[in-house]
Amino acid sequence: MEDRLTEIVSSSRGRKGDLIPILQRIQAEFGYLPEEAIVKVAGLTGVAESRVFGVASFYAQFRFTPMGRNRVMVCRGTACHVKGAPRILDEVEKAIEIKEGETRQDLEYTLESVTCIGCCGLAPCIMVNKEVHGRLIPKEIGDIFITRGECDAG
Ligand code: FES
Repeated sequence: MEDRLTEIVSSSRGRKGDLIPILQRIQAEFGYLPEEAIVKVAGLTGVAESRVFGVASFYAQFRFTPMGRNRVMVCRGTACHVKGAPRILDEVEKAIEIKEGETRQDLEYTLESVTCIGCCGLAPCIMVNKEVHGRLIPKEIGDIFITRGECDAG
């Protein structure tokens, strides 16, 4: 990882103004921003570690933990909200045993909420990797994860 981090930062010539693109490239490569990446970026750009962390934590696009193999997105947009998204989220949290914003320790799932997944006519809905599940009722949620098996992430 160390060499790759050096390559990424060096390709941006380590300029302070390139901090966000550097962090984006690191995240694209590793799926998140490991702590050692923050330290390395700070060392190579001359920006304080606290500043690098501050910039990274300001933007919702950056993650500090690895993604799970399966990404679960619960829609909390208006259409889904009025059709019961909060109950759906509760049931998903129970089914995969993590809270919104968390990744399971075994890295099987990451759970996020989103503002719309573009299937409002199917509200309430969730997305598991690229698969949309719509017109959900809370008692069906457990079945989605039971029938998924261990992992089907691509
Ligand atoms: S609001 Fe849920 S899919 Fe659009």
